[in-house]
Amino acid sequence: MEVLDCIRSRRSVRNFSCGRPLTDEELDVILQAGAMAPSAKGLRPWEFVAVLNRDLLAALSELSPYAGHVRSAGAAIVVCARTGEGGRPISDFWQQDCAAAIENMLLQAEAISLGGCWCGLYPRSERVEACRRLLGIDSLPMSILALGRPAKALPPRSVPVQAKIRILR
Ligand SMILES: Cc1cc2nc3c(=O)[nH]c(=O)nc-3n(C[C@H](O)[C@H](O)[C@H](O)COP(=O)(O)O)c2cc1C
Repeated sequence: MEVLDCIRSRRSVRNFSCGRPLTDEELDVILQAGAMAPSAKGLRPWEFVAVLNRDLLAALSELSPYAGHVRSAGAAIVVCARTGEGGRPISDFWQQDCAAAIENMLLQAEAISLGGCWCGLYPRSERVEACRRLLGIDSLPMSILALGRPAKALPPRSVPVQAKIRILR
């Protein structure tokens, strides 16, 4: 699939067909896409927690009022910033780095006919802390990526691209 076709056809998928778990191969290729994203100073300051367990998926879906669809996903990847001294993320560019990794994973999912939806946790501290407790992690959970087989195909969005661009020559 051409990159721009993949970008065009990607939509946020919130309806998954019956929670079939992702295969190891599907999960692996999506995680690889995330891990290969660019990052400031090449620090790759993220940690990806892949969740296939249905009870944990249900618990993740309750961390935010906007994450209900995680319950029926085939897997979720919680994208976290690795933390160091004082519990702070190891890079001050961590949000940009994690966002690049998430987009890579969403596009890779699209390229293998899976759907995904980005669910924000950070900067809502109550969601971040609840997620940390649930997963038993020290790192800082930024977002949940819900993944699965789309229940129905969504049409590409029509976005007025020109209105958002200025070219200075
Ligand atoms: C930082 C961020 C946080 C988001 N959080 C949520 C969320 O909590 N729940 C949700 O259903 N969608 C969430 N989304 C998905 C957006 O709602 C979605 O990308 C937007 O409506 C555009 O739709 P599209 O992805 O189909 O083009 C989030 C997207 C981003 C970039």
